Amino acid sequence: MIRPDWHYPRKPFTHDTFVALTRGPVPAMSLFGPRRTGKTEFLLHDLGHHAAAHYGHRVLYASFWQTSVAPLSLLIYAVSEALRPRSYADRVADWLRHPPIKVRIGSEKGPGAVELDLSDPREAQLGQDLLLLDDLLGQLANPEKPAILLLDEVQELATAPGGTEIMAGLRTALDRRRDGLRTVFTGSSQIGLNRIFSTRDAPLYRFAAPLTLPPLGPDFVTHQLAVFHRVFQRRLDPATALAFFDRFAGNPMVFQRWLMTLGQYRDLPEDKAADQTADALAHDLDFDRTWLDLQPHHRAMARILAERAHDPFGATGAARYETLTGQPAPIPQTRQSHVRTLARRGLADQWDREWRLTDPLFEAWVLDRPEAEI
Ligand SMILES: Nc1ncnc2c1ncn2[C@@H]1O[C@H](COP(=O)(O)OP(=O)(O)OP(=O)(O)O)[C@@H](O)[C@H]1O
Ligand SMILES: [Mg+2]
Repeated sequence: MIRPDWHYPRKPFTHDTFVALTRGPVPAMSLFGPRRTGKTEFLLHDLGHHAAAHYGHRVLYASFWQTSVAPLSLLIYAVSEALRPRSYADRVADWLRHPPIKVRIGSEKGPGAVELDLSDPREAQLGQDLLLLDDLLGQLANPEKPAILLLDEVQELATAPGGTEIMAGLRTALDRRRDGLRTVFTGSSQIGLNRIFSTRDAPLYRFAAPLTLPPLGPDFVTHQLAVFHRVFQRRLDPATALAFFDRFAGNPMVFQRWLMTLGQYRDLPEDKAADQTADALAHDLDFDRTWLDLQPHHRAMARILAERAHDPFGATGAARYETLTGQPAPIPQTRQSHVRTLARRGLADQWDREWRLTDPLFEAWVLDRPEAEI
């Protein structure tokens, strides 16, 4: 494992997901969690580790986030790598690297060898490559001990070149081997996941059982404080730590950044470290630019969503809009179109029919803005 110390194992959730995935009636799950809440960490260091290192399942991981990489070639590469014998730790190290540009699949020089250029979408080869993927998945399938496919940021497939054909091919290949191949798809956009799994004519319609990553709680904080104590030989006040954790919606990444700041600057008071961490993160994630790129009416709607208004398009939303902008609120349809613009830019998302900002950190940042900045 890469960072054995700092990783907080989500034990009951890992166990339950593993059992449901390997022995349940449905061969796939779609795991949703907001931005930066630990989906990838869970896939690699909890579920994948549990399945591969404890139970000897073959596990593969591919993330479709890197849009510069052709998704079908990436899948073919991931499956062919999974067929090679390697330790789980070595695999994780490889998955965290950017994939190579050119790879050779099959025996090095033999007639079955295929060369793939991962940077090239090769639409002309789509049919042939889907056959190759199907063949490799056939080799990977194992009904005794199902191989586990961890496919991260799968919403990107919907808009990738050839995405529909790839999803259709994948569904056929996985459906034919329901006992031998089990899949977890993840995404940080509900709208994106719905497009893939809940749209009637989508190839993966109803293929996966939905699952939500549970939020981390006080146990995570206790665990991290204990590691902090071991590493930095210093104790932090648990109540202050918990208050910081809550201020940033229980976000593990922000919490660890705060611990790093405290570890580096021994004399920095905890509340100063909190403000410094928040500023540094906002800078790294370029929230200022995102905000400035929005029109005032988009900002007003972003603020209203950040406040989790129950009816952003109704009378309360309108009143809030007027207070924020000093202008009369446009009609509901116009306000809806502003929110759809935010969604198109990846800033807003719809959960259980309620609109929210996609990134909990951006949400906290927007709430911290003075209202006059709109
Ligand atoms: N269980 C955990 N134990 C310790 N740290 C964690 C844990 N889960 C998440 N983190 C920390 O939070 C960071 C963000 O997690 P991760 O990248 O897995 O989130 P994500 O939901 O996949 O984000 P994105 O939406 O950007 O893909 C990790 O790099 C790690 O530092
Ligand atoms: Mg991730």
